[in-house]
Order: sequence, then structure tokens, then C-alpha cells
Amino acid sequence: MIYTKIMGTGSYVPSKVLTNEDLKRYVETSDEWIQSRTGIKERHIVTEEGTTDLAYEASIKAIEDAGINKDDIDLVVVATVTPDNYFPGVSNLLQARLGLKEIMTFDINAACSGFIYALNVADKMIKSGAYNNALVVGAETLTRLTDWRDRNTCVLFGDAAGAMIVSKSEENKIQDIICGSRGDVDDLLISKNIKIKDPEVNEVSKQDHIHMKGAEVFKFATRILPKTVNELLDRNNITLDDLDYMVAHQANERIISKAAKDLKFGMDKMFLNIHKYGNTSSASVPLAIDEAIKTNVLKKGDKFITVAFGGGLTWGGALIEL
Ligand code: UT7
Repeated sequence: MIYTKIMGTGSYVPSKVLTNEDLKRYVETSDEWIQSRTGIKERHIVTEEGTTDLAYEASIKAIEDAGINKDDIDLVVVATVTPDNYFPGVSNLLQARLGLKEIMTFDINAACSGFIYALNVADKMIKSGAYNNALVVGAETLTRLTDWRDRNTCVLFGDAAGAMIVSKSEENKIQDIICGSRGDVDDLLISKNIKIKDPEVNEVSKQDHIHMKGAEVFKFATRILPKTVNELLDRNNITLDDLDYMVAHQANERIISKAAKDLKFGMDKMFLNIHKYGNTSSASVPLAIDEAIKTNVLKKGDKFITVAFGGGLTWGGALIEL
């Protein structure tokens, strides 16, 4: 039987910080409103850097942390909804920037659940016996899609990347992953593609912004997080008492505390870093896991569930032992 484990993690955020006070220059809002409704105090945003740059910095740290030889990495999966190009993908550019062998690389788009989808795919590809060591990344520059005049959305998002080296193991550490989706409610959270118009006119429409029906996404999130956690617990014949921690997608502190309350799981065991970074989409989960490990909140041997939801709708959860 082939098992998998996390060998190392890394993360990176761009240096520019945008505080809630700064946002008052663009929209009618207040630090009090943003903090009380979301838990966010500030977020990091890119100026010059692209998604590949953030992914590169996080990957370097994960490779160092894992102590792995770059030549031993045989798969790269990057989750992103904000690739620098339609093609080539971030994962493809990353292969060259990191000086990896000419291996298989591909991007995944599952909105904010992207990292769990990427982890699921890499985990299963290793468990198939075909691959040994995967670099799995969640990287976003979501602020490039932000409408800075829309106070309903612009206060929420930030830019970041998180990376993980996932390897073949004799111990069963990445114990279970589930993912789901439904596309019938795409209008809840969407950013449309550029439409190339009639070739006679040859006019290209402008890049769309993020559109969100916040209250409905909130309702979905508070339902799907506990449901996904319970499904993972049931499938693995364990209870919440067997978990040392939970790392949820950092979209809104109120979503996380409502999910914790409904599950009857202590907020003291729910990792939170949303106040510093906002919602960083696919980067949110690996950024939080890396920070939890580096600050000794998550320690070797700890068992935790990480769970996410996002536009689409999509969702996913993983049961992991460090
Ligand atoms: O990765 C997944 C991404 N998305 C999410 O997870 C989003 C899920 N939804 C949410 O987190 C919450 O719905 C929001 C934080 C987006 C909004 O919080 P809410 O408590 O649902 O507020 P609301 O949309 O019901 O708006 C309440 C009021 C409205 O004013 P009126 O109509 O009552 O006068 C909004 O116009 O707050 C107003 N408002 C703001 N006021 C100050 C909305 N955004 C702002 C703002 N500053 N930034």
C-alpha cells in the first residue's frame, strides 16, 4: 500500500499592506464595519509581482523546508484562479523558474477550494504509484480582479501563495480527502472571462471584476463546512475529539466561528490568520497550514482537518496527520 505525507511547507505574501483605513480612500467603509463583519484588519497586495512570482517564493521555502533535492520532484500542481496568462500555466512557468526536471505540471481552477482539489489530485497520483514527490501550490493575485469601487467585495481579498511538498510514505499521513461541486449557482460568486467579439470588429472586452452575492455565499459556507467535516469524520470512524486542530479557508471569521459553533468544536482549536491577509482564495489553506506549523500551533503527530469552499460552487476537505 502506498501512503502519502507532507514533507514541507512554505508561504509568501507580497510586501505592500493595505489596511482597512487605506480602503476608506476608495469606498465608503470603516475599519469597524470590516473587522466586525469579517475579522479582516489588513491584507497584502501585489504591485509589480504576478501569481508565478508569489508561487515561486512559496515553493522555494517549501522545498527548503522539506529538505528535498529539486531533481526528485516529479509533479507540480498549482491551484489558481488568477494565472498570469491563459497559457502557459503558472505550474509550467514554475518548472523553469525553480529549475525542475522536465516533469508533468498543470494548473487547477476550483476557486477558493483549489488547493484541496490540487492536494487531492497530487495525493491520488502518488498513491497510484506513478509519482513520488509533488509540489502542490495555491497562489493568487485576486486583487487584479478586484473592483476597487465595490465595497461589498474589495474589502475582502488579498494576495498570497502557499506551497507543500507531498511525498510517498510508509506511514498513512494524508488520510482522506473529499471534494465536491455544483455549477447551477454560478452567479453567486463569479468573474467572467474576456469575451473576444466579432472578428470584423476585433474588439476585446475588458477584464471582468469579481461579482458576489455575499449573504448567499455566507449561508452556503456555514452549511458546507460542518457537512464536509462530518463526512470526513464518519468516513474515517473518528470524532471531533480525535482532532487537534482545524484549518478552514480564511474567508470570514464569522463563517469560521459559526461552523465551529454548529459543530461544537472549540474556537481555540480553529486556526485564524484572516486578520492579517484577508481572503486569499486558493492560497488561504496552504498559507494557514504553513503559518500554523511555523508558529508551532500544529506539531508533528497532530491530526487536523482542513476544509474550504469557494465559487462555482466548490468545496473540499482533507484529514491529515503531520
Ligand atoms: O471564498 C469565498 C468568498 N466569499 C465569501 O466567503 C463571502 C461570504 N459572505 C460574507 O462574508 C458576508 O456576506 C459579507 C462580509 C460579504 C457581507 O457581510 P453581511 O453581514 O452579509 O453584510 P450585507 O451584505 O448584508 O450588508 C449589510 C450592509 C449593507 O447596507 P444596507 O443595505 O443594510 O444599508 C451593505 O451595503 O452593509 C453594507 N456594506 C458595507 N458597509 C460598509 C457592505 N459592504 C460594506 C463595507 N463597508 N465594506
